[in-house]
Amino acid sequence: MKTFFMIKPDGVKRNIIGDVINRVERKDFVITKMKMMQITPELAEKHYGEHSEKPFFNDLVNFITSGPVVAMEVEGENAVLAIRELMGATNPADADPGTIRGDLASKLEENVVHGSDSEESADRELALFFN
Ligand code: RTP
Ligand code: MG
Repeated sequence: MKTFFMIKPDGVKRNIIGDVINRVERKDFVITKMKMMQITPELAEKHYGEHSEKPFFNDLVNFITSGPVVAMEVEGENAVLAIRELMGATNPADADPGTIRGDLASKLEENVVHGSDSEESADRELALFFN
């Protein structure tokens, strides 16, 4: 199974790309595609379309376009759920130690990583970022 996984601008700025990727590889997942890129506002609005009515939507788009991200296709057993588990809870305050957000983040709005939340999201997001 494949999923879409991304290191957000805060993770790139903080120089923790290696730490994040290391965790994915140590868990025996395979990175089958990877690129550093700047997300345009158009792509951000499509990617976060499900949140377009939320009060934090503008902040979300501003943040994800604030600097380069590292976008990846990750392949492995049960990849969608397994990568979400590796990431930890959305709010780092609730994320378990040992997870990416639990170990490396402290703010809800700057939580280092994104991972698809379902197989449908994975297909949609992989097509958006890697067509
Ligand atoms: P992501 O999409 O980034 O992987 O995160 P997620 O599935 O764990 O969380 P989601 O509900 O999709 O929310 C997307 C991102 O929006 C920010 N957020 N801010 N201010 C708020 O109340 C609020 N709620 C969510 C978070 O940074 C979250 O990662
Ligand atoms: Mg999400």
